[in-house]
Amino acid sequence: MLPEPDKIAAFLETIADMPCRLSIKTRIGRRSSAEIQALMPIFNSFPLEELIIHPRLGVQLYKGVVDLDVFADCLTSSTNPVTYNGDICTLEDFNRLAERFPKIQKWMIGRGALTDPFLPGAIKGISIAGDPLQVIKSFHDDLYNKYSQRLSGDSHLLGRMKAVWFYLAGSFPNHNKLLKKIQKTKKIASYTRLIDDLFHGENPDAKHR
Ligand SMILES: Cc1cc2nc3c(=O)[nH]c(=O)nc-3n(C[C@H](O)[C@H](O)[C@H](O)COP(=O)(O)O)c2cc1C
Repeated sequence: MLPEPDKIAAFLETIADMPCRLSIKTRIGRRSSAEIQALMPIFNSFPLEELIIHPRLGVQLYKGVVDLDVFADCLTSSTNPVTYNGDICTLEDFNRLAERFPKIQKWMIGRGALTDPFLPGAIKGISIAGDPLQVIKSFHDDLYNKYSQRLSGDSHLLGRMKAVWFYLAGSFPNHNKLLKKIQKTKKIASYTRLIDDLFHGENPDAKHR
């Protein structure tokens, strides 16, 4: 809908009276960042809980870089609280962005937290007690057990866990090799054997970075 500000305005008019708080998450356009310039006055005409901006174009998918200059312009023109989203993958990324945008109070992290579940804690200065590998193991086991209660069939469960590992593997050395091994598993038994080895250190890929 991004290239169609009139449709977005009409949609927001329709839902504006709903008895709930409204937040909007947006990219800066589908094909051009000129699109967000047309949208900002519309967003400003509604009292939003927050406006979350991922400063990429739709056509970029996840490629290229975030456009921080366009984000800065949106921040200046927004009358609603703005949340920053996009490419916070390390503490250094966060610190660099926080320095450039001291006005921002809220940050949204996607892939960075899926890859390194300790990242939000590191940003907030919360240190995690214990061996990081065991913390990840316990997170994994919890997720695995809950998914196995909810999902029916090995392939469904394996599919979900592989989607988790698509990002989480990035937290381990030799992550490409590890991910390939996980993606190759076809049976729950071979999956659990591989993961057991990983977490019990019998796998060369086990050391959490
Ligand atoms: C696995 C995955 C699922 C996502 N699902 C949604 C979604 O349901 N709604 C949404 O607005 N964005 C979704 N996104 C986009 C993210 O919220 C975020 O805007 C994007 O990943 C950029 O932030 P990041 O660089 O921190 O990952 C998803 C992203 C990923 C990687």
